[in-house]
Amino acid sequence: MNHFAADADIRGRADLEVVLRRFYGAAFADRRIGPFFTEIAGTDLDVHLPRITDFWERALFRGADYRRDAFAPHAALHSARAMTAEDFGRWVQLWRAAIDGLHRGPNAERAKAQGERIALALHKRLTGADAPPAAGEGGPGFVPLAALELRTVA
Ligand code: HEM
Repeated sequence: MNHFAADADIRGRADLEVVLRRFYGAAFADRRIGPFFTEIAGTDLDVHLPRITDFWERALFRGADYRRDAFAPHAALHSARAMTAEDFGRWVQLWRAAIDGLHRGPNAERAKAQGERIALALHKRLTGADAPPAAGEGGPGFVPLAALELRTVA
């Protein structure tokens, strides 16, 4: 089985590490949301990656003991520079693309759905407003953005 042919599901921590490296490579290089990491937070990936891998391993597989406050860093970012629905839309788009390029299956679907749910919840909690409805849908969602080209620095 070719691991990189997007034919296997996300099976555990080792797969998450690869997905997350790919996601943050694209996120750091992104003109819209990159500066939150590179300029505002000054994120050190060697520190952030093990934490965020714990977060996702716990979320998807109940496998790691993540007990940090995931809201606080976003509240700090938001007060430094307002995070908009478009920013969260971009995050969701990059997250989906990072997974879709590598994996297919129930866990991949759960990871994408959960990322979008958390993005909506963060947006709501930070701004006090629902994100605008996505095109063709009634409920809260994100403004559709231009077709994605996944650029990466990693
Ligand atoms: C526009 C959207 C977002 C931006 C710009 C953003 C940016 C950041 C930044 C800069 C940090 C601090 C990293 C550091 O310690 O230097 C952070 C932390 C974190 N982010 Fe986001 N984020 C976004 C959305 C999300 C979403 C939707 C999730 C859902 C999974 C998420 C999950 C986390 C978690 C769990 C942490 C805390 C890691 C820890 O220190 O334990 N973020 N984010």
